[in-house]
Parts: sequence; C-alpha cells; structure tokens
Amino acid sequence: MTTTGPIRSICCIGAGYVGGPTMAVIADRCPHIQVTVVDLNAERIAAWNHDDLARLPVYEPGLDAVVGRARGRNLHFTTAVDDAIAGADMIFLSVNTPTKTRGVGAGQASDLRWIEASARQVAAAANGHTIVVEKSTLPVRTAEAVKTILSAAQGTAGGTKTFSVLSNPEFLAEGSAIGDLENPDRVLIGGEDETAIESLASVYGQWVSQERILRTNLWSSELSKLTANAFLAQRISSINGIAALCEATGADVREVGRAIGTDSRIGSKFLQAGPGFGGSCFQKDILNLVYLCRHYGLEQVASYWESVVGLNTWQQQRIARLVVNNLFGTVSGKRIAILGFAFKADTNDTREAPAISICRDLIEEGAQLAIVDPKVGDQQITLDLGRPPVDPATAARGVPLGGDGTWIPAESVVEAARGADAVLILTEWQEYRHLDWGAIAAVMRQPAWLFDARAVADAEAARAAGLNVWRVGEG
Ligand code: NAD
Ligand code: UDX
Repeated sequence: MTTTGPIRSICCIGAGYVGGPTMAVIADRCPHIQVTVVDLNAERIAAWNHDDLARLPVYEPGLDAVVGRARGRNLHFTTAVDDAIAGADMIFLSVNTPTKTRGVGAGQASDLRWIEASARQVAAAANGHTIVVEKSTLPVRTAEAVKTILSAAQGTAGGTKTFSVLSNPEFLAEGSAIGDLENPDRVLIGGEDETAIESLASVYGQWVSQERILRTNLWSSELSKLTANAFLAQRISSINGIAALCEATGADVREVGRAIGTDSRIGSKFLQAGPGFGGSCFQKDILNLVYLCRHYGLEQVASYWESVVGLNTWQQQRIARLVVNNLFGTVSGKRIAILGFAFKADTNDTREAPAISICRDLIEEGAQLAIVDPKVGDQQITLDLGRPPVDPATAARGVPLGGDGTWIPAESVVEAARGADAVLILTEWQEYRHLDWGAIAAVMRQPAWLFDARAVADAEAARAAGLNVWRVGEG
C-alpha cells in the first residue's frame, strides 16, 4: 500500500463521450483539482476548446454550461499527453474499447490496443506515485495486464515511480450524461489499495453521498459494468420480442409494459419497445461477455447472452421487412422519409444506431430515403451508410424503377415527406411527438403510411390526416 495525499491534479486520456463530460463534471464539482483531458485527436481537442460552446464535439444537454463554468479555470483540453501524465496524481484511462474486427476473437472480443498504448504511455511519462483508474469498459481481468505494464516501469526514474490501479467503470447514458454524472445511482470503485480507493472516493465524495460509493475488488468492478449493460440490453430484447407477439395477437406492448412494470421486482424502466438498441456500448459489451464466457468454457451462458444480440438484429431486420411488405412488397424507386438517425434522442451519436442497418436494408431494396435528424449531419450519415447522398435535383427527377437505392438529406420533416409513400420514425426526438400530420400527409403520395418504430407520434392525428399507421407493439 502506498500513501497518497489529497488529489490535486487529474489527467484523463481520451476526450470522447465519456472522458469529456465526466471530467467536465469532476472539474465543476472539485474546483481545487486541476483536470486535464488529453487526446491524440487534435481536431477533437480543438472542438473541446472552441469558443462557441454550441460546437463542442459531443452534444449533451447541459454540457455546454458545465464546460463554460470550468474550462480555462481548472478544466483543460490538450494534445500534450506526456506533460499531462507527468503532472498528474491520478490518471483516468477513458479510451475506446471497440469490438475487434480481425484476428483472434474478431467480432466479439474487445480491442484493447488503445488501453495498452495508453498504459504504456503512462508507464513511460508518469512521475512519483500515480493512481491509474480504468474508466473504459473492459473485459474482466484487464487490470492484470495494466498492472503488469505499469510494474515494468515501477521503481525506475530513481526508484520514485510507483502505481496503484483502480477500476471505476462509467454508467452514464448518452443524452442524460450530465444528470447521470451529477446524481449517479452509484459510483463503483474496484481495487486492492485502500488508500488509492479512498483517494478516488474523496474526489466523488465532493458531490456524491458515501452510501452511493460502492467499493469492490478489481474483478467484480470490471465484471459489474459488462453485467449491467447485458441486463439492460436483455430487457430491451425481451420487450421487443413481446412487441412482435403483441402485434400478432392484438395486445399492446405499452399496456403490457405498464402492467408488468408496476411489479416492483420488475420495475418500469427500460421497457420501451423500439427499433432495437443501438449505441456504442450494449452490443459491444454483450459480445465481450459472450467471448469471456466461451473463453472460460461456459457455452450455455455464452449462447444465452448471444441470443440478446440475435433478437436485436432480428428486430431491426423485421422493421425494414414490414415497411417493404406494407408498401405492396416493393420500395424500389419509392421515397421514404426517415425521421431520426441518432441511436437515441438528445445525442448526436450514431454508433450502432438501428437507423444504420434499417436504412441500409431499405436502400438495398431500392428505396430513395430522405433523412432528417436534428443533430446528425450529412457527413456522419454518409460515413454510416457507406455512400454519399445523391444530388437533390437528381433525386427530384425520381429513381428509375429497379435502380439502386439512394438517400438525400432533408432540412425538415415536411421536406423529407414531400412525395414520400411512408414516414418511418427511428429516433424518439421530442419534436416528433408534436408533428403537424395534416401538413405532412398533404405533401405525401397516397396511399401513405406512418411507421412509428418508437411509438412517439400522435397516431390519432396521423390517422385523422388519412395515413395508414403502424406502431411498434400495437396489435
Ligand atoms: P470515444 O471513442 O468517444 O473516445 C475515446 C477517445 O480516446 C478518442 O477520442 C481517442 O482518440 C482517444 N484515444 C485513444 N487512444 C488514445 C491514446 N493512447 N492517447 C490519447 N487519446 C487516445 O469513446 P467513448 O464513448 O468515450 O468510450 C470510452 C470508453 O468508455 C469505452 O470503453 C466505452 O465502452 C466506455 N463507456 C462509454 C459510454 C458511452 O455512453 N459512450 C458509457 C460508459 C462507458
Ligand atoms: C448505456 C447504459 O444505459 C449506460 O449505463 C452505459 O454506461 C452505456 O450504455 P447508452 O447506450 O448511452 O447507455 O443509452 P441507453 O439509454 O442505455 O440506450 C441504449 C439503446 O437502447 C438506445 O438505442 C435506446 O433507444 C434503446 N432503448 C433504451 C430502448 O430501445 N428501449 C428502452 O426502454 C431503453
């Protein structure tokens, strides 16, 4: 065990969706701590330093105000990684840990190259005693590798370089990150070094009550994060499966959700049927859990969790298929308005968004999509769909029947719907709850459809405007 004084200086490696908001809240709540967020990505750091707070690289309600209060005072964003490491008492590793795309475990295991690179950089550049905190979501027992890398440097630099490793996974959800960070259900700290654990607990203790700061061993902490995401995602696959059964039987998934959610053992949250879960975490973390289970010879457990992802993929394909089926079995050359591209409301993030696979399937069927989202720009959609939009003038002339599917960006919902046979809602943006269905139906080609995969639109108003309506989970 190593003695550590109060934390005065924090470095966070990784200025992404987790590193940026988390460090902004720590800096805001701990004015006595200097917090430096570093990243290799100079463009991202420049965006964090942008004078116009509306242009931060991450869109999160309330983030601009928190950054505005702390930036330049005790919150800094820089690409000078080594300097920030050298000056820090505590270093958070908040780098990306995506699913491996090749080699052993491709498609399931986490790619740990960024974690390893940042651990090596800490090993090389740190001074004195440093507490290294795993903030990224990691496979259980990753701390062993981090400790091994750091211990190779331990005792160098005149014997003064020492490290303690903690696990402190992040539970924030995008779109509500600031509220989740300011008022967390719990903060989880896993470790072996009591002094280091208490140092980190005292940082959170500035605004989180002690009962909510849970202390565990390293491996429980790492595994709890994967487990929490697997349980949450499992609820969504469960309700989406029941939604399909509701549609087939005349039940309504919202009524079923309310009926089961009032059972305090089940609870009411995470029972919204939809187009399937998206986001950078759920699929990646479950697949990682599946990989770990197989690694430890637990085939039954692996296939149980794998089915949660399988049902999610099926739900996305089911929605694309039912759009095609309801439009007389073909969408070739037909315009379809896509409302919402982000993986959930209140974020500009599209990672693993259900919109990506659903739009790809419809384009494959020859549809001409007009996509609108309040926060996602054309460039991002181009990357996600793997194709640029067609020139709107060409699109206006129509796509030859049987031709390749295409997409165009639209400025507004009415613009997207102009000439369309269907409107498909894929993200639950607040503004889609109050659309003027009379105005939308008036510019569509009849007979026209509303497919509401989030059940947010005013279905009565859409029906009154003459549209056929399909809502997820409504029989
Ligand atoms: P992200 O891709 O948005 O950000 C990671 C950043 O780390 C990138 O900007 C990248 O350039 C930077 N980086 C990578 N290696 C680096 C290095 N050696 N030095 C400096 N910078 C480096 O990822 P994210 O969404 O912030 O997720 C980070 C981790 O947190 C992941 O493990 C993820 O699973 C986990 N997590 C994410 C969320 C979420 O809502 N996005 C929630 C909880 C946990
Ligand atoms: C998730 C976890 O909630 C969070 O604790 C973890 O730290 C990171 O992963 P996030 O992916 O940002 O957060 O958002 P979340 O609100 O969990 O939504 C994930 C996906 O599930 C979204 O596509 C959302 O639309 C979908 N979802 C969520 C549903 O389809 N139905 C629901 O009832 C809830």
